[in-house]
Amino acid sequence: MKKRTLAESEERVVTLREELSKHSYAYYVLDKPSITDQEYDQLYHELVEIETDYPELITSESPTQRVGGTILPGFEKVTHDVPMLSLGNAFNQTDLLNFDQRVKRLTDRPIQYICELKIDGLAVSLRYKNGIFQQGATRGDGVVGEDITQNLRTVKAIPLQLAEPYTFEVRGECYMPKASFAKLNEERDEKGLEIFANPRNAAAGSLRQLNSKVTASRNLNVYLYSAANFDELEVDSQEELLKKLAAIGLRTNPERRLFDSIEEVWSFIEEMTAKRQQLPYEIDGIVIKVNDFATQEEIGYTVKAPRWAIAYKFPAEIKETVVRTIEWTVGRTGVVTPTAIMDPVFVAGSTVQRASLHNIDLLQEKDVRIGDTVLIHKAGDIIPEILGVVLENRSSDSEPYPIPETCPACGSQLAHLEEEVALRCLNPKCPAQIKEGLSHFVSRNAMNISGLGEKVVSQMFEKRLVKDVAGLYTLTMEDLLQLEKIKEKSATNILNAIDASRDNSLERLLFGLGIRHVGAKAARMLAQEFETIERLMTATKEEIVAIEGFGEIIADSVVAYFSLPEVADLLEEFRQSGVNLTYKGSKKITIAPQESIWQGKTVVLTGKLNHYTRQEATEMIENLGGNVTSSVSKSTDWIVAGLDAGSKLKKAESLGIPIWTEAEMLEHLERSER
Ligand code: IVH
Repeated sequence: MKKRTLAESEERVVTLREELSKHSYAYYVLDKPSITDQEYDQLYHELVEIETDYPELITSESPTQRVGGTILPGFEKVTHDVPMLSLGNAFNQTDLLNFDQRVKRLTDRPIQYICELKIDGLAVSLRYKNGIFQQGATRGDGVVGEDITQNLRTVKAIPLQLAEPYTFEVRGECYMPKASFAKLNEERDEKGLEIFANPRNAAAGSLRQLNSKVTASRNLNVYLYSAANFDELEVDSQEELLKKLAAIGLRTNPERRLFDSIEEVWSFIEEMTAKRQQLPYEIDGIVIKVNDFATQEEIGYTVKAPRWAIAYKFPAEIKETVVRTIEWTVGRTGVVTPTAIMDPVFVAGSTVQRASLHNIDLLQEKDVRIGDTVLIHKAGDIIPEILGVVLENRSSDSEPYPIPETCPACGSQLAHLEEEVALRCLNPKCPAQIKEGLSHFVSRNAMNISGLGEKVVSQMFEKRLVKDVAGLYTLTMEDLLQLEKIKEKSATNILNAIDASRDNSLERLLFGLGIRHVGAKAARMLAQEFETIERLMTATKEEIVAIEGFGEIIADSVVAYFSLPEVADLLEEFRQSGVNLTYKGSKKITIAPQESIWQGKTVVLTGKLNHYTRQEATEMIENLGGNVTSSVSKSTDWIVAGLDAGSKLKKAESLGIPIWTEAEMLEHLERSER
């Protein structure tokens, strides 16, 4: 074809872009393709050709410009003009009836509810200026999110230009369809890459890419469901807003309905509960909103969530599978934990094969036996948990699982101490404990020695290069080169990191030693108080209890620890290796404030936690700069509610304080740790 002139091209690109965006809209937003893929490709390529000939005609909203070439060094922070709120939760019909009554106490207007699906993805906010997509951000903590514009531009359902030149912010959920998730995991599995636990993690991982080409390859989609600063749109209700969004090119979920009573809302929930599996995307509940905006305003907000809306969460999915064996692992403190290994089963979005039984009491209480059919679900939608045994399926010759008498790692006699549920290996030289202890010692909030991941530590231990934490300081280049995959360069890095850690202030060493009940915060306070290890070694229980916030349990544990002859030997080894044993006062253990959402936050842990003990969770949160308190008040930023949470949960609900599940806490602990 003859090359077009610039003038001709100028006209043609406008037409092409209009055509393409019209067809994209039909395809991605309406789910009703208006031309064949081939015809679309033809138009697209014509546009690419013209833009290649006349690069001056390229505009940022051209459909050819979705994937940029730059790899970001990191994501910038974005402060949301209007905070992105969360929603209160309802778990059953009673919660819903209570919500309805609350709403009706707060307004005399007639109430109409709109029910929407609660898409299980990631909340995002999209800024449009004069109809052009400007910036996209994650929700973050609701106030500050991350700028992921480059990645959101690759999501085809997000129009780079709207049908009308509005300036406003639109919000919704970015998600990965079930089919795309399955395909992605299949591909990753083939390539030997780690698979994603569920579509939500896959979507989150895809949006967190610094290279938007990766995001572009992930087939993400979006449903928009709210807006901010949208006066220009001239809409008076949620239903009108959704219609308007769809009309200007933004994808909205058609599975929504208006109701005049909460009873009808409940029927809708029942209907969707049955239909849920057939949807091409994951939903984790139904969002119920008061439809009329003026009524919404009258009902108002708590600090974190609107009072005019609530999220009904589906009960966790339950599946059956068969237990094949029980595996015992030894942790850092010698606690021996049973894990059931089962036939793989797909539950709540991912394949599950292992479930912790936590301790022998629980194992005995649940009486899980090899060959048993068990019911399994995911606590907080993340952590696999055995709910119970299907007794009808149990064979008559089955026997209770024997409780091990000796440590699976070192063979020494196990103890079941009176006051605790744990089964413990008391051998301080137990290899499994030492290995775990080494990993803790080098971890970021302890001695912060990088390059020593679990595999390296395991090998060092198995090859007898180190026998305890002090042994790290006598490692040589020769030693390290014996390890798999460790070449001179990484060995040098490890040695440098070890060397640098010699200068750490005392609190890091104290925390790293893993003294029972001494978390990062307690370690810092001990170091501050006693300043040198000599002073601390001779500190009395009374002196320790006198420190603010210290109780008898910690004091006893510290005194007992330092009275052990092995500990004195260990400390002497540190001294001889040139490891600093004094408080330097300047280095704080907490990580940089902006890196952790826990920084400066006051939280309450309540109910039974599954994954960590409350003590452990407290330590982790404190390490990340948070404050864990025991009572709920207006100054509580959020609570974490475990199983059977009681009055604190109620109080938090009544104060409108956000409630996190254990799973949400884990996600944020793990995210902050990275
Ligand atoms: S409305 C103030 N609608 O659920 C309104 N949220 O627990 C706040 N979500 O952070 C959100 N589908 O990520 C709303 N149709 C929907 C939703 C939805 C999913 C998510 C969203 C939000 C969380 C609230």
